[in-house]
Amino acid sequence: TFVVTEACIRCKYTDCVDVCPVDAFREGPNFLVIDPDECIDCAVCVPECPVNAIYGEEDVPADQQHFTALNAELSREWKPITKTKLALPDAEEWSRIERKLDQLKR
Ligand code: SF4
Ligand code: F3S
Repeated sequence: TFVVTEACIRCKYTDCVDVCPVDAFREGPNFLVIDPDECIDCAVCVPECPVNAIYGEEDVPADQQHFTALNAELSREWKPITKTKLALPDAEEWSRIERKLDQLKR
């Protein structure tokens, strides 16, 4: 499966959503996740993300490994998002901040 990681938090550009052939993205207040039960590993979402937040499960950076379980967990709670929409207001500012897991809203 593919995994959304920390870079997405408080950015939520949503460019990834439009290209997914199986509507695997789930939306929270300031982060998206991929439902591992839906993702077919096509990888087309990866280059769409302006902040490179999406990785194949086997390529998730060492310091981001917990995001694999977090995507699975939150995808059970959050609703599907299938259309791109405006990024969050301070997306550009937050795109430069690396450590922001403490900003995640559930
Ligand atoms: Fe959707 Fe493909 Fe990305 Fe999986 S890898 S979330 S199926 S676009
Ligand atoms: Fe997040 Fe990147 Fe998609 S910031 S919403 S994973 S385009």
